[in-house]
Amino acid sequence: MTSTTPRDYLERVIRVDHAGEYGAKRIYQGQLAVLRGTRHEPTIRHMQEQEQEHLDTFSRLIGERRVRPTALLPLWHVAGFALGAVTAALGVRAAMACTVAVEEAIDEHYAEQAATLGEDEAPLRAKIERFRADELEHRDIGLANEAELTPGYRLLSAAIKAGCKVAISVTERV
Ligand SMILES: [Fe+2]
Ligand SMILES: [Fe+2]
Repeated sequence: MTSTTPRDYLERVIRVDHAGEYGAKRIYQGQLAVLRGTRHEPTIRHMQEQEQEHLDTFSRLIGERRVRPTALLPLWHVAGFALGAVTAALGVRAAMACTVAVEEAIDEHYAEQAATLGEDEAPLRAKIERFRADELEHRDIGLANEAELTPGYRLLSAAIKAGCKVAISVTERV
C-alpha cells in the first residue's frame, strides 16, 4: 500500500468492507434458505442479523465519506447466496465449515486494516475492531457446531479462504 495515499486506502477499506459485509449477509441468507425450520435457524439468523448491522454501518460510510461502492455487488449478491446455499445443502457441518473459513479470512482482513488505519481514523478503526469481535464469535459458533467434522474439511476450508482472498483483492480495486 506504499504507493497509495491515505484517501485511496480509506476508499479501499470502505469499499471492500461494504462488499464483504454484503456478501456475508448473502451467505447466511443462502444457508437459511436451506436450513430454515431446523434447529440451526436461530443461530444462523443471529449471525445474519449481525452482518446486517455491519452492512448498515458501511452503507452509511459509503454515503458519508463519498466512496464509490464496488461494481461487483451483483456478483457478490449471487456468489454469496450460492456459497451459503450449496454448503448448507451438503449439510449443517459444511455450512458451519464455510462460516469458519469465511470468518477466519475476515478476521485476518480486519486485523490488517485495524493495524494500518491511523489515529485520524480512530472511530472507523474502533468499528472494525468491534465487527472483528463479532466475526470471531461467528467462527466460534461454526467450530462449536462441528465444522471440523465435515468430510474434506481442510480442502473445503482452504478453497473458501482462497476464494475470499481473491474476492477481497479484486473488490478493493473494482
Ligand atoms: Fe460482518
Ligand atoms: Fe461474520
